[in-house]
Amino acid sequence: MAIDKLLSPLRLGTLTLPNRVVMAPLTRSRAAQPGDVPTALNAEYYAQRAGAGLIVTEAAQISRQGQGYALTPGIYSGAQIDGWRRVTDAVHRQGGHIALQLWHVGRISHASLQPGGGQPVAPSAIRANMQTFIIQADGTPAHPPCDEPRALRGEELPGIVADYAQGARNAIAAGFDLVEIHAANGYLLHQFLATATNRRDDAYGGSLENRARLVLEVVDAVVAAVGAERVGIRLSPWMPYNDIEDAEAGPMALYLAEQLGRRGLAYLHLHEAEWMGVPGYPEGFREAVRARFPGAIVVCGGYTAARAEALLQTGLADAVAFGRPYIANPDLVQRFAQGAPLAEADQATFYGGGTEGYTDYPAWAG
Ligand code: PHB
Repeated sequence: MAIDKLLSPLRLGTLTLPNRVVMAPLTRSRAAQPGDVPTALNAEYYAQRAGAGLIVTEAAQISRQGQGYALTPGIYSGAQIDGWRRVTDAVHRQGGHIALQLWHVGRISHASLQPGGGQPVAPSAIRANMQTFIIQADGTPAHPPCDEPRALRGEELPGIVADYAQGARNAIAAGFDLVEIHAANGYLLHQFLATATNRRDDAYGGSLENRARLVLEVVDAVVAAVGAERVGIRLSPWMPYNDIEDAEAGPMALYLAEQLGRRGLAYLHLHEAEWMGVPGYPEGFREAVRARFPGAIVVCGGYTAARAEALLQTGLADAVAFGRPYIANPDLVQRFAQGAPLAEADQATFYGGGTEGYTDYPAWAG
């Protein structure tokens, strides 16, 4: 099967990607402690995968408050910036491009991860029926339920917007080519967008425009900090992950596509939920997004090379991100190009640990 389009270059922001295969963001929970600092091992892992047209890193919390799981890396301290610098240097030495994903988990958290052991925060005080991941005081891991969050006060929101902007500046200081605002998968920004999690009665809740307000304020602040050509955003309309539900997922996605398009963002990354058992996009949805958003459109969610190529050929997407295939296939682009078989990743080593199941998956030997 020919996959010419998937292997062809793409202009994205000011970058020219050598191919349209994106490494999707993947939580791997291997940041050094204390301080949630990226390591030389993380640099090796990403450098092994630098053949991707673009790497999007695992989500990185913009503040302590934005953390929802133990061992995820941050992008708010000097040590974290220094750690990420090793990652970006290693990827750039291999000729790759890399974006950092800016993350605030909102209600998907636990008091033991929060500053001062306080309650996690959310648009409204509605608990997520999900588990999180912590390291207990005795050093053993545990998966407690997410804590009930408290509703953010209106006067707290500018501080969160400022944390995103500072995270973006920190990412550029650490050598990243781009930042990706994580507004998907049931985390804080998605919690504001979605009808079931946002019950606010102020300017950030109620109407669709009000529910989108925080996301657009974050976008504007990040664009002001680093320039629209260096900003992407991830959305996941209809995604149920993290106990999220949005009765207006379609209209919200199209409203955002238009607003983001006007702001000249480099790319829009859509995480599709079909692989989670949700119906595919409704008829005409991709065309409607394309009509509203002039930047690059990246899609993700259970794609094979063949399905990726078929979608790219329609012109309704510009690149396709691969998540789990990248865990066990560091040379995924080469394997696609050669029609080589793909290795299966071992679930037991997805999160935490060291080199095993992380940097020890070999390239295809032919
Ligand atoms: C996770 O760690 O489970 C996770 C993180 C970010 C996502 C999705 C899942 O967007």
